[in-house]
Amino acid sequence: MSPSIVLGSSIAKIIGHNVKASNRFDPYVNMWVYEEMIDGKKLTEIINTEHENVKYLPGHKLPRNVVAVPEITEAVKGAKILVFVIPHQFIAKLCDQIKPHITEGTIGISLIKGIDEGPEGLKLISDIIREKLEIEVSVLMGANIANEVADEKFCETTIGAKNEANGVIFKELLQTPNFRITVVQESDTVELCGALKNIVAVGAGFCDGLGFGDNTKAAVIRLGLMEMVAFAKLFCKGEVSSTTFLESCGVADLITTCYGGRNRKVAEAFAKTSKSITELEEEMLNGQKLQGPQTSAEVYKLLQKRDMVNKFPLFSAVYQICFEGKEVKEFITCLQNHPEHM
Ligand SMILES: NC(=O)c1ccc[n+]([C@@H]2O[C@H](COP(=O)([O-])OP(=O)(O)OC[C@H]3O[C@@H](n4cnc5c(N)ncnc54)[C@H](O)[C@@H]3O)[C@@H](O)[C@H]2O)c1
Repeated sequence: MSPSIVLGSSIAKIIGHNVKASNRFDPYVNMWVYEEMIDGKKLTEIINTEHENVKYLPGHKLPRNVVAVPEITEAVKGAKILVFVIPHQFIAKLCDQIKPHITEGTIGISLIKGIDEGPEGLKLISDIIREKLEIEVSVLMGANIANEVADEKFCETTIGAKNEANGVIFKELLQTPNFRITVVQESDTVELCGALKNIVAVGAGFCDGLGFGDNTKAAVIRLGLMEMVAFAKLFCKGEVSSTTFLESCGVADLITTCYGGRNRKVAEAFAKTSKSITELEEEMLNGQKLQGPQTSAEVYKLLQKRDMVNKFPLFSAVYQICFEGKEVKEFITCLQNHPEHM
């Protein structure tokens, strides 16, 4: 099995190099690491002695100014810039832990792909961070599969920053010759793209597992994109322009996730075996978490509340197949009466 590569360490590698080369930032980067024991040794100790995240980013040296810290409160002490890269199910609890240590003027950027559901409808992960920490939060989303970022293979990404000055800071912190950044103001659309494309990737994986060809997969990707646009227009509070979907966070991330990425891979195995998504996540992902199925569940709840399930057949079918026992072989049938074709 190939190792699962996490984005957090890949991004820490970029930030470590960039802050060393710039005089605008503090030269040390605290990287909070969820502590685990690896062959009897603490992962943070391994990272700080070998400068390698041997579990989640093996084979890549981290710059020495990146320091792994097991205590979250210790990691954020004195920080003016917070970069959030953890599975979305842990963010709320983490924010509660760090809130007492946040100082005025701190800004954040979230790379977390997922959504939540609140009493007023859609809740973005950046909304959770904003509400809990009372800081300004930008987002970064794009076609950025972590192992390729770590290998420094050329790619693009999108920063969504409502505050233009923060967008400039984050671009300086994160851009490299092989990690090219476009900054846009429509932060909520950028973030929603990052979350919703994981549902489409599950659909693409079903297609692969069921033995459909490239035409079918292209149709799934296009219908998925149309549902992403329609969903964003329905649920985003601010403006949603179609051009944002042409940025890396939109169409490019959608393509890469529907060909590579864990959601597609696990969904393909799901269609080929009788194992559950949870079993496959444990078997195939080496501690990584799947986001597509969970996001489909959040989306489905929001659609049900607005009586809109029928308008989003792809998102709804992914949810019903993952959680309600609908047969995976019915996936394509669900798309035959898509609103796009009526
Ligand atoms: N991996 C990628 O290619 C990629 C690319 C773009 C964006 N992202 C996004 O970045 C976010 C993080 O993804 P990832 O791939 O770095 O990690 P992941 O989702 O694969 O999860 C693994 C990480 O979760 C941590 N973890 C495990 N249990 C935890 C707990 N109880 N509390 C807190 N952390 C815990 C582990 O230490 C490890 O660092 C996700 O929202 C993902 O969508 C990932």
